[in-house]
Amino acid sequence: MKDEKSKITAVAIEKMIDFYQGNLRDIEHFLKVWAYAKTIGEQESVDENTQGILELAAVVHDISCPLCREKYGNTNGKNQELESEPLVKEFLEGMPVSEQKVERIIWLVTHHHTYTNIDGIDYQILIEADFLVNASESNFSKVSIENAKSSIFKTAAGCRLLESIFLREE
Ligand SMILES: [Fe+2]
Repeated sequence: MKDEKSKITAVAIEKMIDFYQGNLRDIEHFLKVWAYAKTIGEQESVDENTQGILELAAVVHDISCPLCREKYGNTNGKNQELESEPLVKEFLEGMPVSEQKVERIIWLVTHHHTYTNIDGIDYQILIEADFLVNASESNFSKVSIENAKSSIFKTAAGCRLLESIFLREE
């Protein structure tokens, strides 16, 4: 029997795909971030509760992007931090996710552009997963990737992925 966590994540993924109304860039971005977050979380053996929080946070982390584009004309981090909370609450309403988890997911989503005071393994992994995807989508330079490796990345699995994808010996 499939475990309950995977089922909840699958329901959230399908709902999030629908939420983005055919915007392939948004859809594929979150799917990639989720895949990296799930992989790093499992490789780092985070506990099941944290893994559940991490995966749901990865699914909804950019939920405010469509609204921010319409309201502000951009998706910069500060605007996302302002707008995400009610959207995440509404999105998770009616899903079997405890209030405590919802609170943490909201906190992660509203802070995922802030690289100071990374205060938990779920937060650390979400930032690493989002960076891996953004580095590819926005063509980050080798220097900025090397900087991220020493200043942002902390988990062994995240560092391995960063090296394997972007820092291969020629
Ligand atoms: Fe993102």
